[in-house]
Amino acid sequence: MADTPDTNDEVWKSEQMVAEWVATAGDRERHRREHRRLMAELLPFADDQPFTFVDLGAGTGAATQAVLDRFAGAEAFLAEYSPQMIAEGRRALSAYEGRFSYVEFDLASGGWPEGIPDRPDAVISSLCVHHLPDHHKQELFNQIRGHLRPGGWYLNYDPVSSDDPVVESAWQLAGDRLDPQAAAKRHHRSPEEQLRWANHIRYISPLAPQLDFLRIAEFEGIDVYWKQLDHVIYGGRRPA
Ligand SMILES: C[S@@+](CC[C@H](N)C(=O)[O-])C[C@H]1O[C@@H](n2cnc3c(N)ncnc32)[C@H](O)[C@@H]1O
Repeated sequence: MADTPDTNDEVWKSEQMVAEWVATAGDRERHRREHRRLMAELLPFADDQPFTFVDLGAGTGAATQAVLDRFAGAEAFLAEYSPQMIAEGRRALSAYEGRFSYVEFDLASGGWPEGIPDRPDAVISSLCVHHLPDHHKQELFNQIRGHLRPGGWYLNYDPVSSDDPVVESAWQLAGDRLDPQAAAKRHHRSPEEQLRWANHIRYISPLAPQLDFLRIAEFEGIDVYWKQLDHVIYGGRRPA
């Protein structure tokens, strides 16, 4: 896989793939509702306090929505590189008009999106950082730490891998028991779906080095605030 071209950009910028992803999102989101809610609850703002936050790799804004629902004074800046996902997101978030803006931005660019506050009060990301190779994860965490308002939090909800095959198989067994269709889906992928899957997981990395990236970027309060099998919410804040 490492020597095959990365098809991530193609997937997320394809009308057909995005239409399929959006059509099947409802089912996935039912399982994630509580995780997204917890991520919002971790943000230390008062109920009506005005604040700005950035959602990196925001997709159609599912993580943003949880924060906007939780905090009446929140204003969202969604950074996303797929025009197709942005178009879907603007539709999905229409009930929040005036409280959000999208900017087109590639997280692998090493910079900070133009058109979003230089000092946001919080940054979140969900189900996206795993698309970046480790050196880009580190660069991104450095950027986030550099731009966050002092005391501001960064939280990331993402899958992780394990170097230990015993751990991987324990995750798979429990995952299959919790979702009776998971094993069938895995065993009946078409060759094209298998290639797409292998590309999807190519940069998913273990938890420990990702926490190290936060330490190297000089966050504090670093913790895994939630974990279930191979999914985690980790983060920390920029020292005040
Ligand atoms: C699985 S979706 C998750 C979307 C959303 N954050 C959520 O939790 O539902 C992954 C998103 O990451 C975006 N993405 C992938 N690589 C990216 C990159 N290099 N820069 C910006 N966005 C990227 C994709 O376009 C897609 O919208």
